[in-house]
Amino acid sequence: MSKKVFIKTYGCQMNVYDSKRMADVLKPHGYEQSESAEDADLVILNTCHIREKAAEKVYSEIGRLKAHKEVQAESGKNMYIAVAGCVAQAEGPEMMKRAPAIDMVLGPQTYHRLPDMLKSAEEQRTGGRRSARVLDTDFPVDTKFDHLPTDSDFDGPAAFLTIQEGCDKFCTFCVVPYTRGAEYSRPVKDIVDEAKRLVAKGVVEITLLGQNVNAFHGDDGKGGTATLGALISELDKIDGLDRIRYTTSHPRDMDDGLIFAHRDIASCMPYLHLPVQSGSDRILDAMNRKHTREEYFRVIERLREAKPDLALSSDFIVGFPGETDEDFEDTLDLVRRVKYAQAYSFKYSPRPGTPASVNEDQVPEDVKSERLARLQALLNEHQLEFNESTLGREMDVLLEREGKLEGQLLGRSPYLQSVHVDLTKHDNALDLTGDKPYSKFMGKLVRVRIVEAGPNSLKGELVRALN
Ligand code: 5AD
Ligand code: SF4
Repeated sequence: MSKKVFIKTYGCQMNVYDSKRMADVLKPHGYEQSESAEDADLVILNTCHIREKAAEKVYSEIGRLKAHKEVQAESGKNMYIAVAGCVAQAEGPEMMKRAPAIDMVLGPQTYHRLPDMLKSAEEQRTGGRRSARVLDTDFPVDTKFDHLPTDSDFDGPAAFLTIQEGCDKFCTFCVVPYTRGAEYSRPVKDIVDEAKRLVAKGVVEITLLGQNVNAFHGDDGKGGTATLGALISELDKIDGLDRIRYTTSHPRDMDDGLIFAHRDIASCMPYLHLPVQSGSDRILDAMNRKHTREEYFRVIERLREAKPDLALSSDFIVGFPGETDEDFEDTLDLVRRVKYAQAYSFKYSPRPGTPASVNEDQVPEDVKSERLARLQALLNEHQLEFNESTLGREMDVLLEREGKLEGQLLGRSPYLQSVHVDLTKHDNALDLTGDKPYSKFMGKLVRVRIVEAGPNSLKGELVRALN
């Protein structure tokens, strides 16, 4: 009999990818994905630990799930609750103690053991126990990638593919090295095979994922290792793969091979997320970022020489312990000099177990808020300027979703801007016969003229279909 699994995903794109893999590994065991927790036999919370109060959110979700679990138990059904992801890794044993409704806790590196864990949870509950106690937060020597299937159904033309996981950088604010473990790169062949399978299903854009993606050094099958630049040029050979993106990169690992990939490989999209976190040398040092602001500027310069239209994005933290007004002004100055097309910014929040969390010199909350507002105002200004600079231009847009209006589809520009494309306005004659005449453009790359630019998205009209 088929069972139902509901997976709720928090946080980054890597969790989105992992959730799909968990669904894939459960499928042969009779689990179909469900849209809601209520009628599920198994609920997995795939958690994120990067922001504050992550664990609290998980506990309140478990409180809600516990009620469903009890309702199910009354009708003689066993519902299982599993907590996966980085909160599970960081706080597994405490979670088990604090929330007895949890049956299983599994870290991000043990997803391939999920069926075994489920089996032992089932065994534990055969005696009528309300919950099982299964905990697996190892960093096993056999990687999950060697075991997890990648046979999800088609889920749109743009897909994620994890190529690297973990981090050896140990920035002093960050939990990732503790929750995701040491840096690991997948072999090139496995990545290429997975990319080919995605393309065969209709995927035309792949975003390569890694916590430190440009530190990639996967086995090249020839006795050596491949850099990210080399991997991109391998993937570029796949027929039908039109767009390659990657995230997240570290400034220190931006080598010439990768910079030239942006110049020489048409499928390597002109967009780069290159977090700098702060514009102050003093703070960069305290964060253990291992580069200065001048070195960052130099990387940006090399990138822009190679690819003048490259759109840049970044992450910023304001109010890192010890950050003075002057340090913060240095961050604003860096932003003015680089001019990002897009960016994410956060107030520093102490993460338990990280070196910066025990620093005495914490910045008051109101100062953090005020700095964040100023930084975001500047970043938004630049984002709008960047969007407006594309007005009147023609560019390729990959249509990924239905819009709200008839004849409107939503997609992404090469620079990762959201574009609302109005297909009812077009230059060439289109075949608009059939039931849903516009849906045949779904999943396709189209040439679009940008007619409107806002702070967060663009509007465009169809010039012609491309693929
Ligand atoms: N406080 C605030 N922001 C953080 N980030 C990571 N850890 C913290 C923290 N403790 C931000 C960084 C990183 C992004 C994913 O999240 O900017 O690049
Ligand atoms: Fe965290 Fe990125 Fe620093 Fe690694 S490089 S510790 S993932 S912020």
